[in-house]
Amino acid sequence: MTARLVVLISGNGSNLQAILDACASGELDAKVISVISNKADAYGLVRAKNAGVESIHFTKLENESRTDYDTRLANYITTKLPDYIILAGWMRILSSNFLSSFPNRVVNLHPALPNTFPGTHAIERAYEAYKRGEIKHTGIMVHLVPDEGVDNGPVLASEIIPILTDDTLDSLETRIHQTEHKLLITTLKELITKI
Ligand code: GAR
Repeated sequence: MTARLVVLISGNGSNLQAILDACASGELDAKVISVISNKADAYGLVRAKNAGVESIHFTKLENESRTDYDTRLANYITTKLPDYIILAGWMRILSSNFLSSFPNRVVNLHPALPNTFPGTHAIERAYEAYKRGEIKHTGIMVHLVPDEGVDNGPVLASEIIPILTDDTLDSLETRIHQTEHKLLITTLKELITKI
């Protein structure tokens, strides 16, 4: 059965692109039903349009609370009948008002190993920690989102990424993103066989 995916983004959307490409090539037996961004200028919205996929800037209404926004977002996504909701660079914490609608159905990608560098700028913070001699490698993970814990939850897959002595922040970032694009697809492939 072809899996129905809703992808939430906040920016560039290179991981969204990896999903769209894998769907188009047949590598992933899935269809992206909708791409939703909390930012109007997210380049991922252009990627969605180019792929002929619904792309929405889900605007926060004036005086709308975080939880009301989340409820409205959940209600909208529910109408799309998604099998999974993929947070591919969605930089906003989702409250239980959202998560309770999709138990075991929300998947997050984070550019660090479990229990390390949660939140924003994870790669930059890992690189700084490496330069201070505190770590020798970093990594990436794909995990389920059970609650409001930031970049935390049952791990579906993770991969260590070595930091090389001649790495710059740019080269490390590039290697991490390239590895993310692969790990996200292999993890989703496995996940959708369970639908
Ligand atoms: C990815 O590196 C993803 O792991 C990260 O945002 C980037 C989005 O890149 N997510 C987080 O940091 C979540 N805390 P993309 O827009 O090019 O896919």
